[in-house]
Amino acid sequence: MKDNIERRLEEILESKTKPCSRSEWLDVVNCSEEPLYDYRLDHTRRVVKLAKMIAHTMNGDMQIVTLAAWLHDIAKPGVSNVQEHGAKSAEIAGDILESQGYDRTIIDRVKDTIRKHVGLTLEAQLYPIEAQILWEADKLDKLGIVGYIHGIINSTRMDVGKRIEDIAKFLREFFPLGKQIVESMYTPLGKHIAQERFNHMKEFSSRLDLEITVHHGEEITE
Ligand SMILES: [Fe+2]
Repeated sequence: MKDNIERRLEEILESKTKPCSRSEWLDVVNCSEEPLYDYRLDHTRRVVKLAKMIAHTMNGDMQIVTLAAWLHDIAKPGVSNVQEHGAKSAEIAGDILESQGYDRTIIDRVKDTIRKHVGLTLEAQLYPIEAQILWEADKLDKLGIVGYIHGIINSTRMDVGKRIEDIAKFLREFFPLGKQIVESMYTPLGKHIAQERFNHMKEFSSRLDLEITVHHGEEITE
């Protein structure tokens, strides 16, 4: 083998794949009315389902939980962070519910629930229970294989040019925060789902690390 031939071949390959890959992704964006991926809608639909499930087991007010779940991120329609999105979403939700004919008592309870759903960890349980339920449903969607798929798709846009090895590192780095999220669950069902999903994440991540190591015959580097 000639010296550095593999590096040279990789450069030649890259000079062809990069422009092609870029234009293929652009073609999809330009030819479709649909966004490549509507994270917020996808996330919110699942938060609604999870919130209803937990509310059912906790005797939570299903109407408050459902309305709050649908509107909890209304001020944050994309992936980018929005300052004080809890308070802003609560205000917008109030206007929407008023336009839909809800009375002030319900609107105020929904707004309170939405205002409290922020933050990735908790030091104490939220009250009333509807606030804790929404908080848990929102955070559960960041865990498990669903959480990983979200992270992988979103990072394709937010951190362009990622390789599988970068994704594997991103997954490993989520563990400390993931553990804290699990510890912030207070409802029995929330705790159960969170622990199960966290275990799935660790298994998925270790299998991915194994595949990268074995198939590429190289050590995982940080
Ligand atoms: Fe959310």
